[in-house]
This record gives sequence, C-alpha cells and structure tokens, in this order.
Amino acid sequence: MRVHVADHPLITHKLTVLRDQSTSSPMFRALVEELMTLLAYEGTRGVRVDEVTVQTPVSLARGVKISDPKPLVVPILRAGLGMLEGMVKLLPTAEVGFLGMARNEETLQPTTYAERLPDDLSDRQCFVLDPMLATGGSLIAAIEFLFDRGAVDVTAICILAAPEGLAAVEKALAGREVTIVLGAVDERLDEHGYIVPGLGDAGDRLYGLV
Ligand code: PRP
Ligand code: URA
Repeated sequence: MRVHVADHPLITHKLTVLRDQSTSSPMFRALVEELMTLLAYEGTRGVRVDEVTVQTPVSLARGVKISDPKPLVVPILRAGLGMLEGMVKLLPTAEVGFLGMARNEETLQPTTYAERLPDDLSDRQCFVLDPMLATGGSLIAAIEFLFDRGAVDVTAICILAAPEGLAAVEKALAGREVTIVLGAVDERLDEHGYIVPGLGDAGDRLYGLV
C-alpha cells in the first residue's frame, strides 16, 4: 500500500478554512470541491493511459489518452458526494458508482446501506472518495467491497486521516494494490472516534444534521 500526503500550501490553506467552525455550509461545500480537484491531481498520477499520436497543424505529436475501460469513481455517501464534482472536473469521462455507508456512532462499526456499482469490476481502476479516514473501518469495508467485485487497483482520496485509521487500513490491506492520497494526517482520534483537531462531522457540515 502506498500513502501520499499532498501537503501543498494551497491545500493546507483551504484545509485551514475548512477546519474553522465558523465556515458556513455553502463555503464548506465549495472548499471540499476545490480541495478535491487539487487532491485529484495527485491522486490520478497513476491513471491508466494509452499512447496515441495526433496530427498538430505542424506535425505529428505523440501523447496519451485515458485507457478503456474508463476509471470508476466511487464516492462514499454521504460526505464523499461533496468530493464528486471536484473529481469529475478532472476526469470527465470517468464512470461513477455509489456506496452508501454509515458509521454507528456507538460501536464505530460501518454498515453499508446502499450500493450502485457494476457487478464485475475486474480490470477496473477505482477511485474511492471519502473526506474522513477516522478509525478506517468505512474505508476498509469500501475497498474490500470493490476487491470482492474483482477490482485490483484502488486509489482512495481523503481530505483528513487519523494515524490510527491509517495504520488500520495499512494492516487490513497489506499486500494489495492500494494507494491512499491525503490532504493531511492529524494528531489522533478522540474517545468518540473523531479526528483531532479534524473538522468535525464532514457529512453534517456539508448537508446538515441527521
Ligand atoms: C463519516 C466519513 C467516513 C466515516 C469515517 O461518515 O465520511 O465515511 O465517517 O469514519 P471511520 O473511518 O471511523 O469509519 P458517516 O458514517 O458519519 O456518514 P455520513 O457521510 O453520512 O455523514
Ligand atoms: N467522521 C467525520 O465526519 N469526522 C470525524 O472526525 C470522524 C468521522
């Protein structure tokens, strides 16, 4: 498993505003989308491409185009939905599948309540989007779900992670073809499984309390 922390100053700047509890929900949504576009730039470094040749007005030029089958982007509902637009801005030809997961706030165990994905993911390159990697339970379950469907190459893009969750993902998915791209790794988890200092509940800040 590879982990890449994209600690670019623009990312850190936007992340700082995102963390601020006085940031409004419309601003929070806009920042998540912008951060996603910056993280997508890092997260798609390994996107599969084929070599092509095009005719410029002057001569032939060698280049690349994104391979078929196109990448599959999988936002984890709810909070991952806030990242989707930022991702498809950079990868407009990607297909999108959905996984709905909710973490039980007492046990911290995730349950999957919705799924809309192709039955066969063999040979598909998948990009999972979820802003928060806290205990890691949701991300591990999501990636295992994709592997069970045949995926072999998964990149997860998260805005924030806790060291405990990152270690759990590394342990659970050791030896698999997984890349994790992060905006930052925070200090720790608190006793409620929240990232410290974190940004609070990403789903609630994007879409309101449930
Ligand atoms: C949040 C977050 C992750 C999960 C992270 O979702 O978006 O999916 O918690 O926690 P974990 O690493 O401990 O599993 P939540 O379950 O609150 O659902 P929501 O997106 O609908 O708010
Ligand atoms: N989910 C969130 O939205 N925030 C956290 O800090 C942990 C889990």
